[in-house]
Amino acid sequence: MDRDDWGGAGPGFTPDPAAKEAALAGYATYLNPQRVRVLRAAGLDIVEAGRSGPWVWDLDGRRFLDCFTSAGSFNVGRRNPRIVAAAHAAVDRLDHGNFLLCSQEKAALAARLAELAPGDLSCTMFGTGGGEAVDFALKLARGATGRHRIVSAVGGYHGHTGFALSAAGRSAFRQPFEPLVPGFDRVPFGDTAAMAAAVDQETAAVLLEPVQGEGGIVVPPDRYLPAVREICDRAGALLVLDEIQTGLGRTGRWWAADHFGVVPDIMTTAKSLGGSLVPISATLFTEALREFLIPNPFIHLSTFGGSDLACAVALEVLAVIEETGLVDHAAAMGQRLFAGLVRVAAGHPDVIADVRGLGLMAGVEYREDSMGPRMSFHLARHGVLAIYSGNQPAVMRLMPALVVGEDEVDYLLGALDAALDDLESGAGPEVTAPTRPRRRPVRPAAS
Ligand SMILES: Cc1ncc(COP(=O)(O)O)c(C=O)c1O
Repeated sequence: MDRDDWGGAGPGFTPDPAAKEAALAGYATYLNPQRVRVLRAAGLDIVEAGRSGPWVWDLDGRRFLDCFTSAGSFNVGRRNPRIVAAAHAAVDRLDHGNFLLCSQEKAALAARLAELAPGDLSCTMFGTGGGEAVDFALKLARGATGRHRIVSAVGGYHGHTGFALSAAGRSAFRQPFEPLVPGFDRVPFGDTAAMAAAVDQETAAVLLEPVQGEGGIVVPPDRYLPAVREICDRAGALLVLDEIQTGLGRTGRWWAADHFGVVPDIMTTAKSLGGSLVPISATLFTEALREFLIPNPFIHLSTFGGSDLACAVALEVLAVIEETGLVDHAAAMGQRLFAGLVRVAAGHPDVIADVRGLGLMAGVEYREDSMGPRMSFHLARHGVLAIYSGNQPAVMRLMPALVVGEDEVDYLLGALDAALDDLESGAGPEVTAPTRPRRRPVRPAAS
């Protein structure tokens, strides 16, 4: 990896605090004022300007190590020079393409995904975003099995589109829009007995993230996913794994399912597939399931899904991950990060209840929910952009670009230590989030 490609020289823009305030004011007026208030309170009134590798600069001229990465969207780094060049080349000769027609780029990307996917997932349906990929996965599961029930997990997150939202593991996201799609049930994540009780002859599919992201970086017990695979097989139900946050090297393997030796029937990928430049998602599935689409080749359509432009960029993303050894690099950096997190946690036992994760998908669980937003504030002051989990505010997600080096991992650990000191000193904003005590001890992550 060429370490000179980012960081040192900076991104070449002029700080402009007035432009920042204008952007925040415009956002408050024309998008959502409450989002601006919440972000300001958490010290996250950051308007991004420069973007390069694992770093982002805001319009105030501050530099941050980006550990949010749009929830795992920047695995190859922001504006990776190879991806930028591929995008330029693609724009020079392509556009979206006519979605009903066949294209070289779609065929080439689908073929490459078939090579990289676990097991026999050799067929693809493209989309634009993660929710759309999950929607198609569940439509396919229902269509192919003729069954209607879907079982997902408490705390799970799959996006805000129709089927994906119906599977959401947090009622606050679903409740205002009910009745949603019928036939969805949720069981506690990691609980094999609950899963066995929930799956029956009416179950079309079980939908899970192999490691829960928004749920607070929850790594299931080693035996959980293999046991769910067996439960599905016994009932004739399909296993759908949502690798939208966990895939493409994030956990130190190409797919998180690889850690557990499990091959799903359907798998979704999105986010980092677009290389931080284009929206694209893919739902991968077996040839046997494709039988459902043979009499129905136009039953699921997406104008921009797998556009020729996006496919060309995504092909380069996959090439960069493979040719730069990014998956193994993520595993090595993840080990360094985890060892450091254990050390930092030991120095702050009153604040940190647990550290956990796989590869560069790490979670730091604080003892109270309010500490999540307060630590976002303190980390930002120490040059780290980190945001607590959507479904679990006590857990800080640390998901830097996979291109981080040892220096950047150490920078993150130093910033975390300093931010914890600040929190313990009582500095920082008043935060009124509900608090819940947490008592779990620090324990090592699964590897
Ligand atoms: C596991 C998982 N699935 C699905 C989604 C939804 O993706 P999108 O926001 O692109 O619709 C997300 C987004 O964070 C996710 O983390």
